[in-house]
Amino acid sequence: MITKIEIVQDDITTLAVDAIVNAANNTLLGGGGVDGAIHKAAGPKLLQECAGLGGCNTGDAKLTKGYGLPARYVIHTVGPVWKDGQHGEPALLESAYRRCFEVAQQHGLKSIAFPAISAGVYGYPMRQAAVIALRAALTATKNNPGLERIIFVQFSEGAQQVYQETAAKLGIL
Ligand code: APR
Repeated sequence: MITKIEIVQDDITTLAVDAIVNAANNTLLGGGGVDGAIHKAAGPKLLQECAGLGGCNTGDAKLTKGYGLPARYVIHTVGPVWKDGQHGEPALLESAYRRCFEVAQQHGLKSIAFPAISAGVYGYPMRQAAVIALRAALTATKNNPGLERIIFVQFSEGAQQVYQETAAKLGIL
């Protein structure tokens, strides 16, 4: 199975895929940005399930149902807060993506959509975050033959451009 990597500009809460990834915080109790949008679209049952998970470490990922979302599941992950790139941020962001792919594989998911984890409120420079995201996707296509679609969903055109340019540089698209 050749895994397709796609880069789209859209609202991730509208995608009918096996799982959308939530850029959450360590409490998993909701927030703003994509976290707020996902909870709003999923409804209160999502928060109820999250409340029982005991939080999530930075760089880790946990699965819940999607409830009111068109996606079957939500994979909640916590990216690092950007300081200066010298505090383990790249490794933690890479871990967040890797753990999301591991959770998807454990549940036999065929399609997964990612927002730009940490590149909003957490301040990670978009281009550097995109390199880590796309490299993690390349690795996942080798390790997870069951995965058919990886979609990187950008809210803004600017972010989508950065992902497209980065993918071209990495020889992905
Ligand atoms: N669909 C797709 N992408 C979105 C959406 C959406 N509906 N809403 C926001 N985004 C984009 C942002 O434009 C940004 O590029 O998701 C990216 C990640 O931004 P944040 O949501 O701010 O996530 P992050 O930078 O990881 O910060 C996480 O923000 O919302 C809180 O609870 C969350 O404390 C946590 C922190």
